[in-house]
Amino acid sequence: MCGIVAYIGHRQAYPVIIKGLKRLEYRGYDSAGVALLNHGMKLYKKKGKVAALEETTLGQDLEGNIGIGHTRWATHGEPSDRNAHPHVSANGRLAMIHNGIIENYALLKQELVKKGYKFHSDTDTEVLLNFIEDIQKNNESTLEEALRIALKRVVGAYVIVLIDRDNPGTLIAARKGSPLVIGIGKGEHFLASDASPIIEYTKEVVYVNDYEIAIIKPDELILKNLGNERQTPFIQKLDLELAAIEKGGYDHFMLKEIFEQPSTIYDCLRGRLDVTQGTITMSGIQNNIDKIKNANRILIVACGTSWHAGLIAEYIIEELCRIPVEVEYASEFRYRNPVIHKGDMIIAISQSGETADTLVALENAKEQGAVILGIVNVVGSSIARLSHAGAYTHAGPEIGVASTKAFTAQLTVLTMVALMIAKERNAITHERYLHLLEELNDVPEKVKQVLGTAEHIQKVALKYKDVKDALYLGRGYNFPVALEGALKLKEISYIHAEGYPAAEMKHGPIALVDELLPVVFVATRDAYYEKIISNIQEIKARKGKVIAVITEADETITGMADDVLPVPEADELIAPIISTIPLQLFSYYIGVARGYDVDKPRNLAKSVTVE
Ligand code: G6P
Repeated sequence: MCGIVAYIGHRQAYPVIIKGLKRLEYRGYDSAGVALLNHGMKLYKKKGKVAALEETTLGQDLEGNIGIGHTRWATHGEPSDRNAHPHVSANGRLAMIHNGIIENYALLKQELVKKGYKFHSDTDTEVLLNFIEDIQKNNESTLEEALRIALKRVVGAYVIVLIDRDNPGTLIAARKGSPLVIGIGKGEHFLASDASPIIEYTKEVVYVNDYEIAIIKPDELILKNLGNERQTPFIQKLDLELAAIEKGGYDHFMLKEIFEQPSTIYDCLRGRLDVTQGTITMSGIQNNIDKIKNANRILIVACGTSWHAGLIAEYIIEELCRIPVEVEYASEFRYRNPVIHKGDMIIAISQSGETADTLVALENAKEQGAVILGIVNVVGSSIARLSHAGAYTHAGPEIGVASTKAFTAQLTVLTMVALMIAKERNAITHERYLHLLEELNDVPEKVKQVLGTAEHIQKVALKYKDVKDALYLGRGYNFPVALEGALKLKEISYIHAEGYPAAEMKHGPIALVDELLPVVFVATRDAYYEKIISNIQEIKARKGKVIAVITEADETITGMADDVLPVPEADELIAPIISTIPLQLFSYYIGVARGYDVDKPRNLAKSVTVE
């Protein structure tokens, strides 16, 4: 969380930084700020979104070819002007932006307070900055040396970028745990939390590694480790187009991303699934297939929506491959000393590839000898790099904070992985294998059909836009779809929503049911169909309102429910990819109708790089 942008070169830094910060707002948007160097330092900070910062700077002196900017997701200290970054050191010489958390900041602060330092914010960032300044002053060292000494004492995660008023030709950055990309231009460099602020200027980038310090001048990039040894920057070519990170005529990124799903799922299948040949080709999996197919147990580790994809994968892998699967919240897994056996395989699922809990959980598991398979969307991200093997989801940049297209791409990849393993283990009949290949191949078209019913979904959504609570129920493969539906509603409409296994509802949530409570059933035709009909009746008998995602032309449930959201028929194993679409749109339309910023819901951030 928090987005950072910095620039050094021949352009004016301010417009580059502001535009970049807008692209990174998905990472945090409670305050923003910028510091520029041009015959001294200029600093502008404002509570609120980047647009509020822009207003503050109208008519101000914004000259300067070097600058740093930040959009914040608060950790230490409330969102406010004074807690916004950049922070300036006590002697006014240094300014710094930071993404991450300095865990031992309280101790460092005590030491600095004893030395007479005063603090103007509640942030851990200002502490680290003054700690660096203090070392620089006492040792009469260069900023680079001071930073190196300081970082050896720092516990936590960070990307930091510093400018020095007295040395306006250099930017200094360092990374541990949070992402940092450096774009290499002609006589200029761009720094950012991801590539989106960079791509319109250059496609050549360097992903900075943990424990590296970058010393950046307009025409020079030096990378060093904390031992002061030069590292060779590994320059990569970005495979990203500008159009992919713009709204393209849609009102919101979320809507654009929902509507992109036929093509993102197709992109995910393309070159991998061949129905005529009856094959799935994913080299990352194929090259490691022996380890994967012989795993005694699979542990799936993820957070948020990605965790829901993991739950569906659990059902699919156990069904098709007959390997036991456990799905873990990364935040729990990393701290509870989990038992990891030789021969266990970990599947990590992450859109961003940077989620701190997932990343650390994997680092721990890797140390204990687990094989890590990464299912990641962002190419070159930390989780992708840490994994032994993996498959990208190829959903393109997801900018709406609430995940949509990344989720369906994750399900698509996970299903293909399960099918590959099942085939290698001879756990699936050839007929069933071929049938599922065909079903997967049909998904983009079926998703398109669901999107064709958006107007109907909107009408239904508007009927329920003022409810206070909602319950989402499903069974089997559709149970995690219900969880994801409830999460989507919470995230963007701020309506309290709970997902539950439909049968489990009798053990508690049914007490909530009255004529005001909408209950959303994911009730497509599958092995649980008759059972879920009974659950619908139990709700109706208590006068609850029923909205049901059904297989199209299902007269039975249509006759019982208050509203239905039909989807095309699909094999139950594939159905979650399709039945999740109406729930995304349902939440979207409610969020918009309630007047909320669905792309940037309050308090949330897309890339959670703090634990
Ligand atoms: C945040 C996002 C969610 C996402 C979760 C996990 O909470 O708002 O949309 O599902 O992080 O992120 P990851 O990038 O690891 O999938």
